[in-house]
Formats: sequence, structure tokens, C-alpha cells
Amino acid sequence: MYSPKVMEHFNNPRNVGVVENADGVGEVGNPVCGDVMKISIRVAEDRIADIRFQTLGCGAAIATSSIITEMARGMSLEEAAGITKKDIADALDGLPPQKMHCSVLAADGLRAAIEDYRKRDSRLRV
Ligand code: FES
Repeated sequence: MYSPKVMEHFNNPRNVGVVENADGVGEVGNPVCGDVMKISIRVAEDRIADIRFQTLGCGAAIATSSIITEMARGMSLEEAAGITKKDIADALDGLPPQKMHCSVLAADGLRAAIEDYRKRDSRLRV
């Protein structure tokens, strides 16, 4: 039911862990299945310079977390915040319909990390 690319990311997830001294951290959970995901980022010149994830969840949640770290690395914050669940599913050559909600977790986790960075950044400017 999963594409070979989903299986590949599930079996060899990229960028697992935590960015040390992260500039932003996002933690999100899916209240229905209970899966949780944490994304940490380092930001340099308004771009994502480093990104790592920790996910406790289903195979699709792990694969989508892994691919979003590859997609977002090097992107501007604005581009990264605009990554949709469809972009993620497309990058994985599709997800089964009943697993599309898992890709929302990855997109929301990244947006939460970016928001956290922006909040910290605006506090520094005050
Ligand atoms: Fe919970 Fe996939 S079943 S994120």
C-alpha cells in the first residue's frame, strides 16, 4: 500500500534527532491517533540551515517527517512555511488516502517550528 519511496524513507529516515541550540522548535500531535512529532530548525539569513525531527508514530508519519526535512533544508522560511500536505505526498510518490492526514503532522510541525523562531526573533528585536 505504500510507495517504494515511502518505504525507503521509513526504513532509512533522514535527519533524525535534535538541532543543538535550535532557533525554533515545533511540537505537534494528532489527537486521533496519538502520534507526535517534534521538528527543530537552525535559521541563517532567513533560510533553514539545519533541520531535524523526532517522530513517534506510524510509518507514514516517519516517512513524511523525513522527506519534509529534505525538502525544507535550504528553503527560505516563507517557502518552507508554504509546504503543503500535497507537496509532501507528491514528493513521496503518493500516500494512501487514509494516510494523508499523517502528512499534515509534518507540515504543521515545520510551521510550528518556524512560528517559534519568529516569536523568539521578534522578542530579540524588542
Ligand atoms: Fe497517526 Fe499516521 S496514523 S500520524
